[in-house]
Amino acid sequence: MTAATVLVAGGAGYIGSHMVNALQGAGHHAIVLDDLSRGHRDLVVSGSAFIHGSIQDTALLDQIFTDHRIDAVMHFAAHSQVGESVTAPLIYYRNNVAATVELIAAMVRHDVRRFIFSSTAAVYGEPETTPITENHPLRPANPYGVTKMTVERMLSDCDTAHGIKSICLRYFNAAGADENGRIGERHDPETHLIPLVLTVATGQRDRISIFGTDYPTPDGTCLRDYVHVTDLSRAHLLALDALLGGGDSAVYNLGNSKGHSVREVITLARKITGHPIPAEEVGRRAGDPANLVAGSDKARKELGWQPHYEQLETIIETAWQWHRREAHHLVS
Ligand code: UFG
Repeated sequence: MTAATVLVAGGAGYIGSHMVNALQGAGHHAIVLDDLSRGHRDLVVSGSAFIHGSIQDTALLDQIFTDHRIDAVMHFAAHSQVGESVTAPLIYYRNNVAATVELIAAMVRHDVRRFIFSSTAAVYGEPETTPITENHPLRPANPYGVTKMTVERMLSDCDTAHGIKSICLRYFNAAGADENGRIGERHDPETHLIPLVLTVATGQRDRISIFGTDYPTPDGTCLRDYVHVTDLSRAHLLALDALLGGGDSAVYNLGNSKGHSVREVITLARKITGHPIPAEEVGRRAGDPANLVAGSDKARKELGWQPHYEQLETIIETAWQWHRREAHHLVS
């Protein structure tokens, strides 16, 4: 494997920062571009170049592509809150679609032809069948999913027109934190189940709300396929190898192919943290599908992806290590 120089847009965010860590670990060179609107400078591990700026800044992009021989671009610089995308869709179309047009246009101008895209299970909407495979119809149920689907479509068109080879990775529920304990999930506001549950255990919240207990699932709460952020990073490394080796454009689901309910997450978190984690049952949250589980055989077969953190318990343990450290830093 040859060392590559990778522009990591959004490399100061949750998944992006794990990616930068993984690129370094694999001997690649990461150049992080992040406007820090949602990312955090301290999550970028030392040793990689950091550029504070936006992918909408065409002059800056031209400068970066002129100054560095970029082998591939990885794009994590998107907004990702489903609820916010419903109430403020234009932010999502501007930041997730229009800004990505600028990034890809700059790649075309500078003859950079490899692109790895953070896509999402949200492109599928309410599934007709589970596990969900890549050929399941795309019917996103919210603007966030529409923006990701639109970029996927744009990438396909840019392959035809400009020869840009892209790999779109549709993450299911990203969770956990790197085992080194230095990076992890930090969103403000936080909306995701696992960090919310764990910040009850650290005392930063009083209780967790369970959104809906009348779903057609074994315990009445929603099933999700939690996939460790380090395993997601590994899939990107494999996608990078595939593109560097002359591979074609492709789309892959990334998940562990196992559904875990909201109650199961809370029960495991109680066991891991030793905290009672009070929970209250409230109504459904709008737009939540009952059951989102990935069929990810394609990534396993074609990329050789093998998740290391298949157990939800291990995933939550790594997240707990991070949240305990974060809580400690907040009070000290
Ligand atoms: N939930 C609760 N209480 C909470 C928060 C969440 O019960 O306080 C429930 C949700 O209703 C859902 C489950 O926990 O059933 C998981 O919710 P998350 O908010 O953690 O994650 P989502 O499944 O809604 O969404 C995540 C990403 C999306 C992505 C999707 C794909 O945020 O970007 O996974 O599976 F599209």
